[in-house]
Amino acid sequence: MAVGVKIENVTKVFPPKVVALKNINIEIKPSEFFVILGPSGSGKTTLLRIIAGLDVPTKGRVVIGDRVVVDADKGVFVEPRDRNIGMVFQNWALYPHMTAYDNIAFPLKIKKLPKEEIDRRVKEVAEALGISDLLDRKPAHMSGGQQQRVAVARALVKQPDILLLDEPFSNLDARIRVTAREFVREIQKKLGITTILVTHDQADAFAVGDRVMVLRNGVMQQLGTPDELYGAPVNVFVANFIGDPPMNIFQLKTIHPIIDSLKIKEYIPPNNEFVYIGIRPDEAIAIKDLENAHLKGKVVILKYLGSRKYAKVKVTDDISIRVLVEDEDIKEDSEVGIYIRKLHLFGSDGKRIDTIRF
Ligand SMILES: Nc1ncnc2c1ncn2[C@@H]1O[C@H](COP(=O)(O)OP(=O)(O)O)[C@@H](O)[C@H]1O
Ligand SMILES: [Mg+2]
Repeated sequence: MAVGVKIENVTKVFPPKVVALKNINIEIKPSEFFVILGPSGSGKTTLLRIIAGLDVPTKGRVVIGDRVVVDADKGVFVEPRDRNIGMVFQNWALYPHMTAYDNIAFPLKIKKLPKEEIDRRVKEVAEALGISDLLDRKPAHMSGGQQQRVAVARALVKQPDILLLDEPFSNLDARIRVTAREFVREIQKKLGITTILVTHDQADAFAVGDRVMVLRNGVMQQLGTPDELYGAPVNVFVANFIGDPPMNIFQLKTIHPIIDSLKIKEYIPPNNEFVYIGIRPDEAIAIKDLENAHLKGKVVILKYLGSRKYAKVKVTDDISIRVLVEDEDIKEDSEVGIYIRKLHLFGSDGKRIDTIRF
């Protein structure tokens, strides 16, 4: 039976006064694939280490299944080895002088399990991860993706209740990353193991996560499904952090020709000196019809980003907007209209006021 994880009022202060985590509350469901997403230094690893028992919170508690594994106020602390957790660290490395088999078997040898049981378990996990034919190889004779599978196998061989992955894809190159994400996601589904993955890369988060929590400076910004985060970011930070190519975000005085063109004045509450307008490049389309466009301007750059073509359109002297181009007749230097499907409006405080569909 898969178990859930509750993180309750967890605060971590590194002396003298680095606040790495500020009052974090999360309830991770059994068998969920949960992702913690945030820039470097936002507290992701600290949170994972607290769950694993490699660090202790300054305040708050962590519950795995129905067992309190740490409670700062009551002085409860369960040792890491008694938490039944498998972890792949950020800079995971296999033992170079050992074969894949011995690398995977290592955690079980430490536990002094009988040889036959170790053999059975190593072969079982290797089979599940599709690496049976690699077992005799040493790391130097495996690709990055294969090494990573072995690292995941080593974390899973103990049959942990929870799998913790800290930036597991960071030392894989772009192409292998795609298959590595799929692999981790497939294994997680197949085994139904509750998994918490930490990453600074929104594409990683969206590729694997059932739900994603966005962390900034130790403070939770938003928690939701990828669709919720993408479609309704709570603030400018989340809006800017999620999406590729990134959202167009402009800070505009509330009296501005663009606000007039978009006819969104009525959505802006009083006492906002300025607002932020957020438009995803995929929700703004370059069109040849200038009459029915929300905005217009000149195409300054036309390039592929990933598999789609985008134009940078100069709308005013100081504002350019990146938009999707589907019409092959649109060229660089041409005048185009921009048709906007949807925009996000944020107040002076950076919080989302509304999402407007056209
Ligand atoms: N052992 C430590 N002592 C002091 N400060 C630390 C320690 N570990 C982490 N920090 C600080 O806590 C913050 C969060 O770090 P970390 O959890 O590693 O972030 P992330 O994994 O998101 O990059 C950073 O400001 C970092 O410098
Ligand atoms: Mg980290």
